[in-house]
Amino acid sequence: MRKKIVAGNWKMNKTFEDADELMSEIMDNLEQIDLSRDIQLIICPPFPYLEMCTDYANDSYFAVGAQNVCDQARGAFTGEVSAEILRSLELVDYCIVGHSERRTYYNETDAIVAAKVNQLLAQDIRPIVCCGEVLEEREANKQFEVVERQITDGLFHLSAIDFADIIIAYEPVWAIGTGRTATPDQAQEMHAFIRSLIAKKYGDEVAQETSILYGGSCKPSNAKELFANPDVDGGLIGGASLNANDFIAIAQSF
Ligand code: 13P
Repeated sequence: MRKKIVAGNWKMNKTFEDADELMSEIMDNLEQIDLSRDIQLIICPPFPYLEMCTDYANDSYFAVGAQNVCDQARGAFTGEVSAEILRSLELVDYCIVGHSERRTYYNETDAIVAAKVNQLLAQDIRPIVCCGEVLEEREANKQFEVVERQITDGLFHLSAIDFADIIIAYEPVWAIGTGRTATPDQAQEMHAFIRSLIAKKYGDEVAQETSILYGGSCKPSNAKELFANPDVDGGLIGGASLNANDFIAIAQSF
């Protein structure tokens, strides 16, 4: 059975003090989540807060992830953070790659996504790889073509063994931070399509084991109907992950 996952992408929000408070509020409410359902919570804070979050993660059942990583192993890359550096923090076990904000504002191509995925896997950090179309692409009915290219060029160089560590997040760009969520049918349709691509490349077993998360204005009021779909294995949550009650409520929506 593949894992149900709720990951919070804090993006570039919160001072250290506010982030610490949010973490302790999340910790105080963790027992509300039904652990027997094998739900993995992942918090992805800004880089400087990773260690503060892993300190909380130490003796609990949620994990910590970074929001980005360098596509190079080490060396003279001022301002960058490598997978090796993330690994040396010990409890950073996940990292978001290829978020649409990075693709749009920092020219992250599918080739760069592929290189970042390689760096992470070499350090045993599980990539959460984002894909998704912009509004004009959906209006032109090109969403499947776009997502197929992102998945193929970003991930299909991997062996089946390496691919087993990949988590995919479908985030239609028109739904991110806009309050406009994909309908449960739109999410299910795309998730099933992504799973069929994986099945074609790596076989049914790998496809059935791959967690595919939905992201884009996911909140307590719509998480239940999104997560009820057979191919939606959880969410990558932006805005609503900045509020402990909302984040926990989403994690209770399976
Ligand atoms: P919102 O939940 O704020 O729409 O952001 C989604 C997202 O980009 C998560 O990575």
